[in-house]
Amino acid sequence: MKIFLDTANIEEIQEAAASGLVDGVTTNPTLISRVEGKFEDIIREICEVVDGPVSAEVVSLDSAGMVAEATELAKIHDNVVVKIPMTKEGSKAIRELAGMGIRTNCTLVFSANQAFIAAKAGASFVSPFIGRLDDAGQVGMDLVREILTIYDNYCFDTEVIVASVRHPLHVVESLIAGAHIATIPHAIFEKMFRHSLTDKGIDAFLMDWEKVKERQGG
Ligand code: E4P
Repeated sequence: MKIFLDTANIEEIQEAAASGLVDGVTTNPTLISRVEGKFEDIIREICEVVDGPVSAEVVSLDSAGMVAEATELAKIHDNVVVKIPMTKEGSKAIRELAGMGIRTNCTLVFSANQAFIAAKAGASFVSPFIGRLDDAGQVGMDLVREILTIYDNYCFDTEVIVASVRHPLHVVESLIAGAHIATIPHAIFEKMFRHSLTDKGIDAFLMDWEKVKERQGG
């Protein structure tokens, strides 16, 4: 499964990318609002750090406006994937952009029908928001499993990005479901490396190693 970082914070991206484990980045208007700088410059800088798909979202609501914005965003860098919200207008824009060879990530997906339409329209990626579904009292991961089955049944090559990830267990569930990608906030990426028993084990080994050194006279 590919790991995308769900942030626009360049320090977080640089730090995580140094692990060699980051395959892409997703942003949205909220994440962009949390960092300084011009939208285009932020996206360009991220693309220069991570050699993989970098999602940048349009804000127009009509398909013509979305296509116009997407065309400009795609010029920033080859890594740019344009995020388009799942609406009827959005699906029109996805179809048109696919014809132009511009990759899209259909975002704000909360149902299997929406994911089907996104794939049929030609989206390169689809983003079901599992955390927000959990918040609304629905099991978000059930949607991911449904989408994967539908895409498998009909050989869609749209990749499923598990989005709105809230904790490390969401990542494990994505892996078990067979999702193509999980987009993960930096804090959760950090938690994936950690276990208190690992820390405890390292401390015990180092203390015991001191005894070995003493026994060996130095
Ligand atoms: C990623 O593509 C989404 O924009 C993001 O995961 C949304 O997460 P949130 O529900 O925590 O805002």
